[in-house]
Amino acid sequence: MELEELSVQEKAAMLSGGSEWDSRGNERAGIPSFVMSDGPHGVRRQLGEGDHLGLGASKPATCFPTAGTVANSWDPELAETMGEALGGEARDLDVNVLLGPGLNIKRNPLCGRNFEYYSEDPIVAGRMAAGLIRGIQSNGIAACPKHFAVNSQELRRQASNSVIDERTMREIYLTGFEIAVREAAPLTIMTSYNEINGVYAHENKHLLQDILRDEWGFDGMVVSDWGGSNSAVAAVKAGGSLEMPSPGYTSVRELAGAVKAGTLSEADLNKRAAEVARIARATRQEGVGRDDLLTEEAIAAHHAVARRVAEGSMVLLKNGSANGRTAPALPLKPGTRVAVIGDMAKTPRFQGSGSSKVNATRNENILDELVEAAGETGIAVAGYAQGYDRQGKADRNLIDEAVALAGSSDVLLAVVGLDERSESEGLDRSTMAIPQAQNDLVAALCATGKPVVVVLVAGSPVELPWFDDVASLLYVGLSGQAGASATVRALSGAVNPSGHLAETWPKRYEDCPSAGWYPAIGRDAIYREGPFVGYRYYETVGADVRFPFGHGLSYATFSYSGLVADDTGVSFTVTNESDVPGATVAQLYVSGPSASSEAGVERKGVLRPARELKGFAKVELAAHETRTVRIDFDRYTFRHFDAAAGAWRVESGLWTLGVGTSVASIELSCPFAVAGDVDAVAADPTLGHYLTGDVKHVTDAEMAVLFGHEVIAPGKPTVFGVNDPISSWADSRGFVARTVARTLMKRERNVREKTGAPDLNTLFILNMPPRAMSKMTQGMVDAAMVDAIVKIGNGRTFRGLGGLVAGFLRNQSANKRTAKELNHD
Ligand code: BGC
Repeated sequence: MELEELSVQEKAAMLSGGSEWDSRGNERAGIPSFVMSDGPHGVRRQLGEGDHLGLGASKPATCFPTAGTVANSWDPELAETMGEALGGEARDLDVNVLLGPGLNIKRNPLCGRNFEYYSEDPIVAGRMAAGLIRGIQSNGIAACPKHFAVNSQELRRQASNSVIDERTMREIYLTGFEIAVREAAPLTIMTSYNEINGVYAHENKHLLQDILRDEWGFDGMVVSDWGGSNSAVAAVKAGGSLEMPSPGYTSVRELAGAVKAGTLSEADLNKRAAEVARIARATRQEGVGRDDLLTEEAIAAHHAVARRVAEGSMVLLKNGSANGRTAPALPLKPGTRVAVIGDMAKTPRFQGSGSSKVNATRNENILDELVEAAGETGIAVAGYAQGYDRQGKADRNLIDEAVALAGSSDVLLAVVGLDERSESEGLDRSTMAIPQAQNDLVAALCATGKPVVVVLVAGSPVELPWFDDVASLLYVGLSGQAGASATVRALSGAVNPSGHLAETWPKRYEDCPSAGWYPAIGRDAIYREGPFVGYRYYETVGADVRFPFGHGLSYATFSYSGLVADDTGVSFTVTNESDVPGATVAQLYVSGPSASSEAGVERKGVLRPARELKGFAKVELAAHETRTVRIDFDRYTFRHFDAAAGAWRVESGLWTLGVGTSVASIELSCPFAVAGDVDAVAADPTLGHYLTGDVKHVTDAEMAVLFGHEVIAPGKPTVFGVNDPISSWADSRGFVARTVARTLMKRERNVREKTGAPDLNTLFILNMPPRAMSKMTQGMVDAAMVDAIVKIGNGRTFRGLGGLVAGFLRNQSANKRTAKELNHD
């Protein structure tokens, strides 16, 4: 039977999940149900009931490095290799749609999920995501880039409205998705929890129809984030195909009712059902059982892939001479006696918390790996000390024990970083510092006079108060289950670390452009800084940073020469000047006519950051090898979005091209005349502080010019609605609602402090608006019951409770009726 011939109700039923992870198929039309699973850096195929917070047990699978770490490789082919292995595991573990990669822009270093995202720059994010998607989908599995879009904070994650100007949205927050869609054709995409300029992502026609489908040519399935849909009818009209996880039959009734009432066209319903059906057919797998596990062979092979990815993603941030020494401390020479210090050297931390958490197939740690490799490397472990309490409690004894190792060792290797509490879905970081106990340890080690080599474990930038005093600093990120052996290989020189940072590391949190208004505590998250995110800000205002975007050292040294630009791209020569093989990341930046560096040329043109990345190439070179490198221009190189015209434009004029090893180390540059489709005219002077990138001092009037309208931040709500999170009830006039919110908040704090890990369930409830209850309870709660719950939130406790009970009974019998109709009884 053809899809169109199914009843309206049957088609509507296909547009929401049947359980936490399964879609609803339709037997009469021969459409199987399919399985969706996280995630971005390892398959989380849950056994049993399932939850989406990484809490319940899942089948063992390879834990690869997280996106924030893989991005530092600047190597889309490596991401593709990882994707091939990841997609292979998905297939073998009975998963059809893998929920990743995550490619939201790192707007601020404190976002709790930054470890799951690639970069502050859309070109890096888009290219890396495209690589991963290609790899995943080469297995006949669908990838699902997420969270579309403008989703950069965890606080109030299901109840946040991203207020952003159109140009910034297009150029910074959407371009990565555009690249991923155009280059890798993902079969599905996941919308984000938030609203964008007042419209939920999953029902945002501008985003889903005008941009995603019409402009970029996406023809796949759009799935909501788990519990992230709002109105089922509005979603279907706007282009949202599938609501997950499971609103039971409540949405089915809403959709069928709307078709009957003439407020939703059956044609729209058909389109969305066809999108879901296509995924079911395209990803259908034969011969895999629900309980199948990975073979030993696959486990071993993919552990090796995970190691290769980790090796390619490590960033040597400093390799120098502290305490008067001149020779770089790394790589460690044979014969070196190393004191291994730090809890994380023994009990590794290699992934973040939340829905991306993988039940790893193997476990490694740096201490054991060093000992095991000693025969090969000639590096001796002189001793181990824990060094600090993982929960951050000050403990002088632990520091003293570590310092005592200095006498019997040549190098002190300190493994420090962020703990499990710091990086999690559902919770933004409260500080950019690592725990003080660890800073105290490093300071004490430096005071011994022995060279200190720090291995830094963290998914996002941290402040480094001891930076000047340590000899070397190797940033391993969250490096996956093979991260420890990869680290040891980098320390010993078996691998030459050649990663570069895919985000800026400011010196102090206050330096960040959005530090003054991030995260938004009310409903509206106003993207006041406009396009000046990350290096676009630091470079434009000339701020001093710890490490610029793109920075990374190597055991090799490279020289760049001979930049030539022609109509289609740039060519230049790179030489490895050293005796060891290594890789450099050549980065192409452009500066628009408004920032022309040519003397005597009038500076004109639209508002722009000083410099923007437009291409890159990872160049592997043998010792003393020279190679010509080419980076082509493409549709993204010179364009900007003209919000008034609603179109992409290219400004004519004299641009500047720069090639460098970071945004702040431009090795080669040349002027370049662009013949565009508009003349460069002077930017609107009323943009004021934006013109110099000084966004910290932007006035409301200047912001109104950028946004094209006034932006008013509303105060705290006094009446709570279906879309206000439970956390906001802490201010309710109603005793019951207030008590519920405050008790949950207290509970979350207590659990976090006691266990050292975030209480994801409680956090989820606090960030959740009542509306989401109807989307995640398999039909237990419908819209009328949500309204009753909102009454409780507003202090009308008895009326609300009465409505809830009556609604419950009504909903139960409606559910039975719908189930019966769908089974054609
Ligand atoms: C997360 C998604 C994830 C989904 C399913 C949500 O809470 O935001 O990234 O894919 O759960 O686990």
